[in-house]
Amino acid sequence: MPDSFPLFPERASTMAGRVDALYFFLVTLSAFFVLLIAGLIIFFSIRYRRRRHGEVGTSVQPSLLLEAIWIAVPAGIAMVIFVWGAWVYFAMASVPAEALDVYVVGKQWMWKFQHPGGQREINELHVPVGRPVRLTMTSEDVIHDLYIPAFRIKADVIPGRYATAWFEATKVGTYHLFCAEYCGTQHSGMRGRVVVMEPQEYQAWLGGATGSGSMAGAGEKLFQDLGCNTCHLETGQGRGPVLQGLFGRPVALQNGQVVTADEAYLRESILNPAGKVVAGFMPIMPTFQGLVSEEQVLQLIEYIKSLQVQGPAAQPQAGVEGPRPDETTPAGEPKRK
Ligand code: CUA
Repeated sequence: MPDSFPLFPERASTMAGRVDALYFFLVTLSAFFVLLIAGLIIFFSIRYRRRRHGEVGTSVQPSLLLEAIWIAVPAGIAMVIFVWGAWVYFAMASVPAEALDVYVVGKQWMWKFQHPGGQREINELHVPVGRPVRLTMTSEDVIHDLYIPAFRIKADVIPGRYATAWFEATKVGTYHLFCAEYCGTQHSGMRGRVVVMEPQEYQAWLGGATGSGSMAGAGEKLFQDLGCNTCHLETGQGRGPVLQGLFGRPVALQNGQVVTADEAYLRESILNPAGKVVAGFMPIMPTFQGLVSEEQVLQLIEYIKSLQVQGPAAQPQAGVEGPRPDETTPAGEPKRK
């Protein structure tokens, strides 16, 4: 099967095989009965068709034995499904004691992960291979649903309470992470990835010992880790303004003001995004107050400074490009020009 068209998600957790086995059993069982019943319908309708006009069927008394069989066999099959399902369910519900903790907060429209050591991630989750991980999850707003197909886990994330799920990744790699509960306009964009690492790599990642590049390089990594790049797209199709070529330029705001995109403005926009909303955009950017340190804010600013425009005049003026088509300004308000 080509990788570009996978019909079935990869199996990358200890649960995946067990879930799949039950799933395939159910599919096979259903297929068997569909074929059996459809086949019998066709066979009987030919075999016992009316041959003469006005022909009436004879009354048949089925034997008690036959009745007993078609009660006992489906009941037995139902019990197999029940016991097997319960066995898998209990295995998924009982978290191994030695599990690592990761705290998950869902909000419109992103996943925030927090490790006990203080490491925070958005739309990305780093975990070690071969180690059970317990997710303690809640929502800041509406019901979301954390879904990692490769791990065969899926759990509702509900405001005001904690939901728990666990997995043990069996393969190093990067896997999809989705929100599987319709939660508003950008629900389909509420996704991310799970990065399964070798234990040593994971330790290095935890320690933040990942390279010692330039400040802009660190900022760029932060930019991606925080998921900034999911909204601030270079194409102008994102939920947030384009940042390429922004630094030092005038920015038109929602309130009619024009400000210059200097360090102070960028810092304010990261920590208090609702303060100065760019014209033509919704105030949906979450605050990164508490998520980034002052040092990291500086790294981010340094990174934004480094984003120079490549082509001549290819860049629309910052803040003037419109929102995405599905994210219109209220009541058909004309876009600012
Ligand atoms: Cu969150 Cu859909």
